[in-house]
Amino acid sequence: MIVTTRELFKHAYGKYAVGAYNINNLEQTMGLFRGCVEAKAPFIVQISKGARSYTDKRMLEALMRTADQIFPDAVFAVHLDHGDEEACMDCIASGFYSSVMIDASAMPFDENVATTKRVVKAAHARGVVVEAELGQLGGVEEHVSVSEDQAHLTDPAQAEDFVERSGCDSLACAIGTSHGAYKFSGSQGLHFEVIEAIQKRLPGFPLVMHGSSSVPKSEVDRINAAGGRLKDAKGVDEKEFAKAAKLGVTKVNIDTDGRLVWCRVHREFFRDKPENFDLRPPGKLFMAEYAKYIVGKNGALGSTGQVDAVRKLLKKT
Ligand code: G3H
Ligand code: 13P
Ligand code: ZN
Repeated sequence: MIVTTRELFKHAYGKYAVGAYNINNLEQTMGLFRGCVEAKAPFIVQISKGARSYTDKRMLEALMRTADQIFPDAVFAVHLDHGDEEACMDCIASGFYSSVMIDASAMPFDENVATTKRVVKAAHARGVVVEAELGQLGGVEEHVSVSEDQAHLTDPAQAEDFVERSGCDSLACAIGTSHGAYKFSGSQGLHFEVIEAIQKRLPGFPLVMHGSSSVPKSEVDRINAAGGRLKDAKGVDEKEFAKAAKLGVTKVNIDTDGRLVWCRVHREFFRDKPENFDLRPPGKLFMAEYAKYIVGKNGALGSTGQVDAVRKLLKKT
């Protein structure tokens, strides 16, 4: 069942975080749905601009609609990840996306507000929910490159002002993470003091944590043992999700970890079976391994077992 992120956040807020997983293809879709159905966890399917143009945006739409039929027990939102204004308007008009993210975080504050406001107006008119971003994460996003030097955390006072003026439904905050596999060096980690200060100013308002992959050491070691070269890769400590969820982090974005599972499965498969050239055997293995990863991640986020309660809430409203 496709729902909006607003409905998922209403149930999760302050108790657990909903996993928002990026997908690009069939195998990721199958692994994701299998894992979430097995875990009985509500979830968010994220589609980036890059994913939409990887083959054809209609292909992913068809995959989601079909997955909805194959997995009648799945409760999920379909969300545009890091959209610009044009992509947001396109997704809103499609009538298919239940949620969009307008990422105007690289713009000056007032321009970010104005752009977000235009998207909110169009989205709300069609019942679509809007995530916006304030502050800049480190690392490299698809259309924005932010060096570590420029990366700056979200200012809590500005966050309050931004939400009030833009009318967005949830806010992606820069709280110390970055996209990709190389998030932290030394003892860096999440800035809980920033999350706490934002929550104090915006009680009950859903916050979003981008760059939340854990970059498991076991995956990195196996990739490197199979010929990879991922030096000093490091991610978010899974144990920190529960604390963040209590402080209003209701959506946790994960993409890189899925890519790592894909890379490990395929590197090991072809290392161990050099005579093989077929795509289906490693594809099947990837779907099973990705589903296993998703089950574990939903456990860490606290979303495991919540789907029946979400359904009940949906019936009441
Ligand atoms: O935050 C960015 C996401 O990981 C999406 O990555 O733009 O390469 O699809 P992508
Ligand atoms: P990761 O690179 O940590 O998986 O973050 C993904 C993300 O934030 C997608 O919007
Ligand atoms: Zn992101």
